[in-house]
Amino acid sequence: MARVYNFSAGPAMLPEAVLNQARDEMLDWRGSGMCVAEMSHRGKEFMAIAAEAEADVRELLAIPANYKVLFLQGGASLQFAMIPMNLLRGAESADYLNTGSWSKKAIAEARHYGKVHVAATTEASKFTCAPAQAELNLSADAAYVHYTPNETIEGVEFPYVPEIGDRPLVADMSSTILSRPIDVAKFGLIYAGAQKNIGPAGLTIVIVREDLIGQPIPGTPTMLDYKIHADNESMYNTPPTYAWYLAGLVFKWLKNMGGLAAMAEINARKAQKLYDIIDASSFYSNPVALSDRSWMNVPFTLANAELDELFLKEAKAAGLTTLKGHRSVGGMRASIYNAMPEAGVDALVAFMQDFERRNG
Ligand SMILES: Cc1ncc(COP(=O)(O)O)c(C=O)c1O
Repeated sequence: MARVYNFSAGPAMLPEAVLNQARDEMLDWRGSGMCVAEMSHRGKEFMAIAAEAEADVRELLAIPANYKVLFLQGGASLQFAMIPMNLLRGAESADYLNTGSWSKKAIAEARHYGKVHVAATTEASKFTCAPAQAELNLSADAAYVHYTPNETIEGVEFPYVPEIGDRPLVADMSSTILSRPIDVAKFGLIYAGAQKNIGPAGLTIVIVREDLIGQPIPGTPTMLDYKIHADNESMYNTPPTYAWYLAGLVFKWLKNMGGLAAMAEINARKAQKLYDIIDASSFYSNPVALSDRSWMNVPFTLANAELDELFLKEAKAAGLTTLKGHRSVGGMRASIYNAMPEAGVDALVAFMQDFERRNG
């Protein structure tokens, strides 16, 4: 079967060039006589793979030297706990912005470890916009401020980085990391599950400012202490070696594509193509405020929900898969991360226009 355009929110498409390279190197990684998945994580081959991946992601994101890059497991969901465990540092509370399903989960988890002050919420508008800077009601004694720059389920993205004074800003970038350049120095900690824009599931990347780690709450398990991972170069225990290697191939691919400024241009264009046809029709709609629409996850509904099943069936037959929206919002969602070729978006646009002509 030909490869499909897979619009899954994650695990998501990987660049075809990366998959081809992984296939070519599967049985014998560069004369080692081994697959990367068979290598000792402490052997010189894998150590080189790991170091190169870190160097490449540092270069792509221009990560300052006083930040650690950790290659962990447990997904972004484990970060919901590790962040308060490590960053409360004796304080009682942290500020959280409540902008969608994932920030809600982060808030619920943080409440196990300290007080959460919800400094802004867009729940009343059903999470269809990001709060404005002026609406952030930050508290003076918060240990940090947590937000979700891109809400994967609702398709809402902050068009700005919150200004929060000298408190550390913590960002769940699971569905937006590497989609464009960012100024890492504005953040205390950035985290992302890999399975959308980095590589396969099983790897979680944490970028954390050095001075913030080393004061976990008493009783923090060793494996949940950032300092342990930082001091051991993410090899305190066996890391997810194959996922780390594939992430490294994705970083090389991004560099070949021209880096994150080039990706930003492509991503903005891909998203605009979809929003343009959604807005031009009364057959499709997207409820998110124009300024806060996600580049990565484009949810949309059909005016007649009875056509949803037919839409999905015909899309699948046309090689456009996994378009069903999250069960909490219904409708459709096209996730168009870095690895979704622009041709995939063009094919979806053509399909949507044709479907509307036939059923509108
Ligand atoms: C923004 C965001 N945060 C957290 C998660 C949870 O990630 P994981 O499954 O890696 O725990 C997701 C997964 O879709 C997400 O999109």
